[in-house]
Amino acid sequence: MVKILSIGAAVQDVFLSHSSELKPVSDKTADELFLKIELGSKNDVNNIDFSTGGGATNASVTFARQGLDAEFMGTIGHDPAGAAVLADLDKEGVDTNRISYSDKHNTGYSVVLLASNGERSFLTYRGASTHYDIKNFDLTGTNADWLYLSSMAGDMETLDRIFHQAKQMNIKIFFNPGKDELRKPELLRPLLDEVNVLSVNREEAQQIVNGEDLEELVRRLTNIVPVAIVSDGPNGVMASDGKTIVRAGMYEDVPVIDRTGAGDAFGSGFLSYWANGRDLKDSIVFASANSTSVVTKIGAKSGILSKDTVLHAMPLSEKPF
Ligand SMILES: Nc1ncnc2c1ncn2[C@@H]1O[C@H](COP(=O)(O)OP(=O)(O)OP(=O)(O)O)[C@@H](O)[C@H]1O
Ligand SMILES: [Mg+2]
Repeated sequence: MVKILSIGAAVQDVFLSHSSELKPVSDKTADELFLKIELGSKNDVNNIDFSTGGGATNASVTFARQGLDAEFMGTIGHDPAGAAVLADLDKEGVDTNRISYSDKHNTGYSVVLLASNGERSFLTYRGASTHYDIKNFDLTGTNADWLYLSSMAGDMETLDRIFHQAKQMNIKIFFNPGKDELRKPELLRPLLDEVNVLSVNREEAQQIVNGEDLEELVRRLTNIVPVAIVSDGPNGVMASDGKTIVRAGMYEDVPVIDRTGAGDAFGSGFLSYWANGRDLKDSIVFASANSTSVVTKIGAKSGILSKDTVLHAMPLSEKPF
């Protein structure tokens, strides 16, 4: 059985929704929409959902539900949020032996204010997920075939150590860098030499290479990594393994309830097929199906697909590279 070790943040997510106070408000001076809460006011919300998040825990649940050997490595605190993270991972059959505890910081915690259009604003305490100890990220003794890495809060030294050790141990790397890593292009670039699969959205791709359309971005990225994937929300995705190039649209035109976890479900969905030797096309179809399902439910994990889900065809084309 293929084993994937997911490394990164673990948080508890609390979603507040179904409130007239959480409606998007436009501001004449800006293009963006805002949530406006009057200082000193008391606002009722009619729905609360408790779930857990952090890109790496979300990914490990995809791997477990897809029947892979899934392990999570990250840092939590000694608190109820940490217990919630552990309980979720245990329930899903994710191996939690490499979880470490912070003595100084609480588990990461997000309050998510969910607007009626599926967009949301986060108030996040990163806590133990950011203030971790580098020595707790040692791969010694693991028999993982792949690492799934999302953000390490911009700590390039820790990433460098993990990537280096993985290379020495012949472990392949899937990487979905976060904004704090992308902000340091001169340190990120050498790390990418070790990466087997790079998954980014369109804006993130443009922080690594120049290019306007998805194909241009994917082609440039394949000069750096063997497999490159660039997603573009509801507009679909483009990917290449250097042999063919796949362009896929929307798996299903679903009502978006909560976008949280879309990127994680996409990347981990891709890797659960790719690591099992499936081709680029099949891996993209499952990635799309998994992420589309996740946006229809509140929370980053509840929509993750199980192994017995029957997939259907989707708009997709493939051509030689
Ligand atoms: N509105 C939507 N309807 C259907 N599928 C969607 C929608 N938004 C996203 N997806 C699916 O999720 C995938 C990843 O979304 P996106 O490109 O927005 O990733 P991302 O920006 O990395 O997300 P995140 O903010 O979670 O990191 C898309 O390729 C698509 O398959
Ligand atoms: Mg993302």
